[in-house]
Amino acid sequence: MQVWNDYMSENKDRFLEELLELLRIPSISADSKYKGDVAKCAEAVKESLLKAGCDSAEICPTAGHPIVYGEKMVDPALPTVLVYGHYDVQPPDPLELWDSGPFDPVIKDGNIYARGSADDKGQVFMHVKALEVMAKTGTLACNVKMMIEGEEEVGSDNLGIFLEQNVDKLKADIVLVSDTSMISMEHPSLETGLRGLSYVEVEVTGPNRDLHSGVYGGAVGNPINILCQMIASMHDENNHITIPGFYDKVKVLSDDERKAINEKPFDLDEYKKDLDVNDVRGEDGYTTTERTGIRPTLDVNGIWGGYTGEGAKTVLPSKAYAKISMRLVPDQSSHEITEMFTKHFESIAPASVKVKVTPHHGGEPVVTPTDSIAYQAAAKAVTQAFGKEPIPTRGGGSIPIVALFEKTLGLKTVLMGFGLDSDAIHSPNEKYGVENYFKGIETIPYFHKYFAEMSK
Ligand code: BES
Ligand code: MN
Ligand code: MN
Repeated sequence: MQVWNDYMSENKDRFLEELLELLRIPSISADSKYKGDVAKCAEAVKESLLKAGCDSAEICPTAGHPIVYGEKMVDPALPTVLVYGHYDVQPPDPLELWDSGPFDPVIKDGNIYARGSADDKGQVFMHVKALEVMAKTGTLACNVKMMIEGEEEVGSDNLGIFLEQNVDKLKADIVLVSDTSMISMEHPSLETGLRGLSYVEVEVTGPNRDLHSGVYGGAVGNPINILCQMIASMHDENNHITIPGFYDKVKVLSDDERKAINEKPFDLDEYKKDLDVNDVRGEDGYTTTERTGIRPTLDVNGIWGGYTGEGAKTVLPSKAYAKISMRLVPDQSSHEITEMFTKHFESIAPASVKVKVTPHHGGEPVVTPTDSIAYQAAAKAVTQAFGKEPIPTRGGGSIPIVALFEKTLGLKTVLMGFGLDSDAIHSPNEKYGVENYFKGIETIPYFHKYFAEMSK
């Protein structure tokens, strides 16, 4: 719409500058040293909501980091869109691999480099600015509720409680989330699923103290050797996961469904080249697209123990540790899988070691409908802004709260993300395209417009 384009082009520089301002705040939720910065970021988000035209905005304290909530109610007869996103970010480590400071955003080659630029401050801020565009031009087609949390990257436990305590306040017709990616600018797409997550930490204990690896080596179980064997045994020669019962609830897709999923444009050679690997590796019988979209996984995220300092210390360590994540697909349950893993891990431990499994956060897998008014409105909005119909794709990442929107609030979600897989989220040199940012701001008002029109 012309009024939107006019308002956007008059305010483009400011829209960008304000995002950079937000990116300068190191809102790292996992590290308690940054608690003050997380709070400062919440304050900045709240102020931005008021500035954008919310009638009210507040900071809702939790047992952890605060949730920012704001609303702009236009008319109770109009549909209400609940926008969800997160202002917290992942730790930037390893710092030495960044070309510029993670919290000193720079714009280079059309990209904004900073931690949180794509995940998720840049995408949250598109909604703040889109709200401003609609509010200031008097074109709001829906009521808007904004709920931006500070603990997504650490599992959203407190947001789960917040939902339960605020069912009325959060009443809406749809949840709209921009925290996922598209295939490319040439191939816009909408994610229609997220994987669930089960995350555990394991501790393997051998002898009661570190031992001389010459005096004792060969006679006492080495917990690191044993942990490695145990981890290796959890995949078979076909890269299937060997935990008994692991696949029992995995939904088997029909040939037609699998065919549709593989229609997404994907170039294996480019994929390998981008990652600088000679070959890919995954579960036999599935394509790369299927392996990341509709199949579960088990991956070691970190492993440590023994001596890792300079030089060589001959030691048979007392303990070994690993952090292990499992990505889940419908209809696996995070709780059940964690239990299965624990039982299995304990059962395969040889008598020479003791093992302990500690569960971390989890989340349930979701599939979002494509035959809903909300999905159709999003598809139409993307088509309007990109000049191309979006391709539905199954995403590999997880946003744990999305399953609870349905369970606690009875609300479906539309995943309208504008990131790219190449944005390096959670990695050094995270970036977000300036064009993606402005395309997002352009697309969102159309979603509100079409959702209102199609809801009539
Ligand atoms: N935005 C991501 C999830 C994502 C990324 C979905 C790309 C689809 C495409 C989110 O912030 C995230 O990183 N989630 C975590 C889970 C959380 C419990 C730490 C994840 O997927 O590892
Ligand atoms: Mn995110
Ligand atoms: Mn993330």
